[in-house]
Amino acid sequence: MATTDKLKICLATAELAPLAKTGGLADVSAALSAYLHAEGHDVRVLMPFYSQIKRENLDIQPVRNLQKLTINVGPWDVECSIDMTTLPANGLPVFLLRCPALYDRPGIYSSETDEHLRFILLSRAAFEMCQRMRFAPDILHCNDWHTALMPLFLRTIYSWDKLFAGTRTVMTIHNIGYQGIFGAHIVGDLSLYGGEHFLHQDDLARGRINFLKTGILLADVLTTVSPTYAREIQSPEYGMGLDGYLRARSDALFGILNGVDYGEWNPETDTLIPKNFTRRDLSGKAVCKLELMRELGLAGGADQPVIGFVSRLVGQKGIDLMVRALPRLLARRNFSLALLGSGEPHFELFFQSLQRAARSRVGFFRGYNNKLAHWIEAGSDMFMMPSAYEPCGLNQMYSLKYGTVPIVRETGGLADSVQQIDRAAATGTGILFRDYDEAGLDWAISRALDLYEDRPLWRKIMANGMAMDFSWKQQGAQYVKLYRYLSGS
Ligand code: ADP
Ligand code: GLC
Repeated sequence: MATTDKLKICLATAELAPLAKTGGLADVSAALSAYLHAEGHDVRVLMPFYSQIKRENLDIQPVRNLQKLTINVGPWDVECSIDMTTLPANGLPVFLLRCPALYDRPGIYSSETDEHLRFILLSRAAFEMCQRMRFAPDILHCNDWHTALMPLFLRTIYSWDKLFAGTRTVMTIHNIGYQGIFGAHIVGDLSLYGGEHFLHQDDLARGRINFLKTGILLADVLTTVSPTYAREIQSPEYGMGLDGYLRARSDALFGILNGVDYGEWNPETDTLIPKNFTRRDLSGKAVCKLELMRELGLAGGADQPVIGFVSRLVGQKGIDLMVRALPRLLARRNFSLALLGSGEPHFELFFQSLQRAARSRVGFFRGYNNKLAHWIEAGSDMFMMPSAYEPCGLNQMYSLKYGTVPIVRETGGLADSVQQIDRAAATGTGILFRDYDEAGLDWAISRALDLYEDRPLWRKIMANGMAMDFSWKQQGAQYVKLYRYLSGS
């Protein structure tokens, strides 16, 4: 194949923005696929047709030949169909795997006993879809534990099919904290019929199967979402038990920083925020700030520093540091907080109690709210992400574009996308702290508040961040290069 030839890619994912999203996996699956589609590659994206997907503004059509399929998943004959839609924002065609028995659930993920089946079916359906469309993919791209068994299925269930003779597998690790570990009693549901030797035998002997580990062992190439995280996960501190396997495959492990979909996250064109603004005219940002403060009931005027935070409320995100640092900082310094998120109940309770203690300075919205996420990016002066680990992180990159200075821990993609401010040289884009402790976060927020007082410097720092470009044009090209290297084209 000549390098001008277009690639054929099948990408399977549990989340895809804006259809179904709990975090960055959705943004990245959508934006990378949209980039590949726009570049003329033939990318077939498959995701579950969750009952949560809002159908109002979508034209969803059943795909001929892909209706009423029966897929044998172990002892189960699972009935499913594949429909198709096109994303209005970017024209990306998306295939939706319809199986109400498995995907009509209150949330995208569940803790029910058939959770493994939901994603085994997704992975299997990707192959069945290719077969029925006579689509011979150069690349099967799987994402996180949900679709990490695809390389296993390629070597076992579908190894007979010449359609896949030239197919290579890429597995992207978005987050090693979620591995998909199930009891070995589900081994029958993998339908391997003799291919069980591909599984990690010690795990099996201990009575479990780890989906992500299986992908790490069997995918042709592994990627993760930043160069620093690619290094970190090879260490015991960050590897969550998989570091040894990743070190063994370090030649096949690549760190590619995520990009940003500036079609959605750009203060010049954002249709969700109160007023647009640019690097040269920040007057709209002042409007956004006052509107945000009004919306959240925060007191004070344009000079009151506002720190934003938008996140899944889970251990990864460094909320335990906030629990220790924020009450004292609020007592000592003058600033306000704009907080958005939901997750572990004890973290939600902490933010609620913080808000009760200082209503005029702490605004907290519990839940998922895309519009408010945009408002917080646009209206805050600073954005904090004190993560214990952060494979890439998207909000710090959104913040940079909105002139909202990130305060981040120096880890993963945060370390790769934010540059420490040098006060004398007026360079840098944010504040980074290294040690994962309360003193680190306290230092970083205090420093941000001090620098904020120096308005000319602050404006320069904002401008530095707004000039950064994390668009998929650059990041997407790295994936294409990798695909080509793999497929020998
Ligand atoms: P992660 O994938 O670990 O959750 P990222 O920073 O990569 O972290 O991506 C998080 C994405 O989810 C961002 O687009 C962020 O705006 C969005 N998000 C997280 N929590 C919420 C929420 N409560 N409401 C709206 N958007 C949210
Ligand atoms: C994960 C990570 C986050 C990353 C996202 C998209 O959920 O926690 O850091 O940005 O996936 O790759």
